[in-house]
Amino acid sequence: MTRPSFVKMHSVNFIQSMTDEKLILDEIIPESLTVSGQQRHPEPFPMVYGLHAGKKKIDGVVDWIQHERDSLLAQLTTTGAMLFRGFPVASDLEFDSFIQAFGLKNLAYDDTFSNAIRSNRTSRVFSANEAPPSVPIFLHHELAQTPVYPSHLFFFCEQSPETGGETLLCRSDVLFESLAHEVPEFIESCKNLGVRYTNIMPLNEDEESGQGRSWCSTLSTNKKLSAEEKLRHLGYQWEWQEDGSIRVVTPVFPAIRKLDDKRCVFFNQLIAAYRGWDGGCSESQKTISFGDGSEISGKTMSIVSDLADHLSFNLVWEKGDVALINNSLVLHGRNTYIGQRSVLASLAVDTHSLFSDQ
Ligand SMILES: [Fe+2]
Repeated sequence: MTRPSFVKMHSVNFIQSMTDEKLILDEIIPESLTVSGQQRHPEPFPMVYGLHAGKKKIDGVVDWIQHERDSLLAQLTTTGAMLFRGFPVASDLEFDSFIQAFGLKNLAYDDTFSNAIRSNRTSRVFSANEAPPSVPIFLHHELAQTPVYPSHLFFFCEQSPETGGETLLCRSDVLFESLAHEVPEFIESCKNLGVRYTNIMPLNEDEESGQGRSWCSTLSTNKKLSAEEKLRHLGYQWEWQEDGSIRVVTPVFPAIRKLDDKRCVFFNQLIAAYRGWDGGCSESQKTISFGDGSEISGKTMSIVSDLADHLSFNLVWEKGDVALINNSLVLHGRNTYIGQRSVLASLAVDTHSLFSDQ
């Protein structure tokens, strides 16, 4: 079992403070846990910290995070995902405090070009993609299809569903290595040509879709000319549709990125766009293409998607769980579910944690 240095340190502190009741109550002593399906690369993926919360309060957790912040974030560059289970986090406000303790810069939903519908709880906490329970959200790096993307994601399980609704997590460096072996020509084209995405921004919010955010909300304007100006500035192409929606084609984005330690990651939105987007495309048009407009074959994308599914860890949520994801290193998705499910999210940016190739 992996037992990082701060876990040992707190255990010693705990023993030394046995006579001080207040310290015993406040001391945060997480355990490194194993969970079903956890992977090793060779570090645990995800890393899981468990706590017997008892009478502990969020304030103690905030102090602990502030003290261990550098160590936790450093571990995250290696493992890619951390799950905090049993911590005293019970509400959106406490989740907000948990996030703030990491001291990362907030990336507000309004400042992103996310195509998912979300609603804010606090300035940094919002609902995760509100796509209907029967609609899967396929593996993706958050906002990799846009010019603005987070380095870190936080998730908090406010309510776990009856069945399903797991969050899929896939190590992107591991996926890259597998793809380089299985479909080397595709990976070479990804490296050399980059990728473009085509999608529809509807006139009105479409709550039945995982990509239903309206163009007014996405582009922060309800005026067509302002919308066009923003798209032009970002290098997008666009075409107004008869129903008032816009079909947009992104500029060319890299499909493979390099981390500081030279690992390559499959940092893009290809799987989700191929499997989950409608894009308002006719038979001859596709939601994805290489940067030069050439086609990415469906057969290849099936291999890529199957491989990513095969390499994924299923995070089965328990109420109160908090997950911290390194968006540069890990793809995520969501399984369909039955019952009520509420998972809140927050995006953060730490420019030191992005890529070495920019
Ligand atoms: Fe996402």
